[in-house]
Amino acid sequence: MKILIIGAGGAIGKIITPALQVSHEVITAGRNNGDIIADISSTDSIENLFTKVSNIDAVICAAGDSISDNLSAMEESKYSLGLNQKLLAQINLVLIGLKFLNKNGSFTLISGKMGERPAKGSSGKAVANGAVNSFVLSAALEMPKGIRINAVSPSKISDISSTDLINAYLKSIGTATNGEIIRIGYN
Ligand SMILES: NC(=O)c1ccc[n+]([C@@H]2O[C@H](COP(=O)([O-])OP(=O)(O)OC[C@H]3O[C@@H](n4cnc5c(N)ncnc54)[C@H](OP(=O)(O)O)[C@@H]3O)[C@@H](O)[C@H]2O)c1
Repeated sequence: MKILIIGAGGAIGKIITPALQVSHEVITAGRNNGDIIADISSTDSIENLFTKVSNIDAVICAAGDSISDNLSAMEESKYSLGLNQKLLAQINLVLIGLKFLNKNGSFTLISGKMGERPAKGSSGKAVANGAVNSFVLSAALEMPKGIRINAVSPSKISDISSTDLINAYLKSIGTATNGEIIRIGYN
């Protein structure tokens, strides 16, 4: 399989990228590092990214900033950052990527446990994660060309095993699952 991983240089990306490289051809992308430099919060940059890669079977996004703070310290700009950088950036990645992805390909987006099991001070992350999940559940109903879409929703990576994280990605790219929020470490 030929896999495009956005955010391969991050904490999650550094765990899953070498594992996927064992059996797949992997192309990495990121804002400052990767085979291709791309910023998924920019439509132009996403389009440029997809014109530089071809024949992609799976797009994995392990990128998307969001800000959390105590509710009393939150303000619109902090929510906006997560909505732009994590939610709309990933939605746009799918909308544009659909034109380029191979038949029967897959998208795996990133959300996070705070979207469903928030802790105090997490509302900035929670709203972005919850909305990513909602997008995946709804978009999965309308994916063309046999394309599937799932979200990986981990707890803090320091609280989960690398094996569980890698297996979540293998499930998303390598099985028939579609519209699934693949939860890791929710106990
Ligand atoms: N780490 C956790 O415990 C955890 C748990 C649950 C969910 N998550 C979610 O998982 C995602 C990744 O987390 P992480 O901890 O791996 O983050 P990270 O260590 O900050 O890494 C993020 C990676 O994504 C890239 N990136 C960020 N924004 C981008 C953009 N607009 N366009 C292209 N690349 C971009 C970064 O590239 P540059 O370094 O080049 O900027 C970096 O390689 C986040 O959405 C986070 O909320 C993380």
